[in-house]
Amino acid sequence: MKNVVVAGLLLLALNQDPRVGTPFSGRWIVRADNGDGTFRETVFVLEQRGTSLTELTGRVINPTNEQPIVDAVVTGDNATFAVITGRPPNERRVEYRATRREVSLAITVTRPGQAPQSLVATRGPATAGDLPARIEPPALHRVPDNGLARTPPMGWNSWNHFRGRVDDPTVRAVADAMVSSGMKAAGYTYVNIDDTWEAGRDASGRIQTNRKFPDMKALAEYVHGKGLKLGIYSSPGPRTCAGYEGSYGHEEQDARTYAEWGIDYLKYDWCGAARIYKDEEMQAVYQKMGDALRASGRDIVYSLCQYGRNNVWTWGPQVGGNLWRTTGDIGDSWDSMTRIGFGQDALAPHAGPGHWNDPDMLEIGNGGMTGTEYRTHMSLWALLAAPLLAGNDLRSMSPETVAILTNRDVIAVDQDPLGRQGRRIRADGAIEVWAKPLASGAHAIGLFNRGQSPARISVRWSELGAKGARKVRDLWAGRDLGRVDAEYAADVEPHGVALIRIER
Ligand code: GLA
Repeated sequence: MKNVVVAGLLLLALNQDPRVGTPFSGRWIVRADNGDGTFRETVFVLEQRGTSLTELTGRVINPTNEQPIVDAVVTGDNATFAVITGRPPNERRVEYRATRREVSLAITVTRPGQAPQSLVATRGPATAGDLPARIEPPALHRVPDNGLARTPPMGWNSWNHFRGRVDDPTVRAVADAMVSSGMKAAGYTYVNIDDTWEAGRDASGRIQTNRKFPDMKALAEYVHGKGLKLGIYSSPGPRTCAGYEGSYGHEEQDARTYAEWGIDYLKYDWCGAARIYKDEEMQAVYQKMGDALRASGRDIVYSLCQYGRNNVWTWGPQVGGNLWRTTGDIGDSWDSMTRIGFGQDALAPHAGPGHWNDPDMLEIGNGGMTGTEYRTHMSLWALLAAPLLAGNDLRSMSPETVAILTNRDVIAVDQDPLGRQGRRIRADGAIEVWAKPLASGAHAIGLFNRGQSPARISVRWSELGAKGARKVRDLWAGRDLGRVDAEYAADVEPHGVALIRIER
């Protein structure tokens, strides 16, 4: 009895200390409204030990990652803490200031270079943020070639331009524009919906679309009616990169649903899977969906998106992959595009009919580069035998954008049936010369000027192991230049390219 009284007095005394407030312990959920009937949840798992000032530990759990909190300081009903996101050398510090209210936490989050944002977290169940049970990946085997993508896939993808704002009417209008702009006639076929179409699952586990996509089957019929094909997106994890429902534990069911809807292409994006599997397990995890797509009985192009980790090019074809991303996400800038594009040389041996290196979708027409730079982008992707997935708004293209995307000669370089990825044959400061052998025995050659001032760039046929006079065509000018002896030279503007084809 005496002890209880003493403890009570002690507590009273402590409560009078203005620095000691209501504990933060618990699981707190911030639900951000995606505006399509779905929510993105962030869970704060906090544990306050005792009543001392700094004993706050915990984690911040996002759909695709979680980080321990660091530098926590509690003062009464207020706490500050931080998390470090990203990997070295690209770590970023995210700062939180939380105030304990009666039944909620008021949180201000400050991300580097962004204005502070106010959030409200409410108490969640004791399991909030917990991962589903781990499913062991299958034993490895070889998924048979699906016979698709004999040349690099061509089409459009919603992500680069529309992000989370893609919806059914937009996809229909993009399909219309793909036809009316001449892109379909030039070879573009796939209309690919990226992340943010998903909702949750029904009682039987079947994936649901959110309200931006009221009827996926009807949408597929519409797109097919235009002579085009429809693509979709998911993740092997419980959550996609944007925090939407992934295919974890529902691979076969989802593949069947896609087939029923009439889906022709799947981009399968690692993101949330990183919370469950190690990089070394990727092959088995991707194989699972490769098998599921095959079992669906429909021809579905399989696009692996795991940012080139774990040497995907060495096992991509074995899991049934038709293409695999080789890098992180492209941005609509000269730096991003050239860092990716000129970095692909060593991967050339891994590309071929049915299985392609994917340096990410095109940014042509999105506004962050000049026309000259976008022609360099298109030229480089064509020489790389890269998938040509336009990433712009096809409904409102300038004549220049259409001309770049639909240049028949350039597309023919990309789509050449030999399926060899071009290689760098010479680099000298800002000057790079790349060449791609073509089925006819011809070569496509790109003379690139990555520098800030005009440059005269030449190539000798002997550098390609060729001899004698060759017929040359300038692919951007659309002009035959006649027979040229031994060497070709062009004045190339800064950030520009001269793209030629020399006949056999
Ligand atoms: C990742 C991919 C992108 C895009 C987004 C969608 O970042 O690399 O291409 O699919 O996810 O959330």
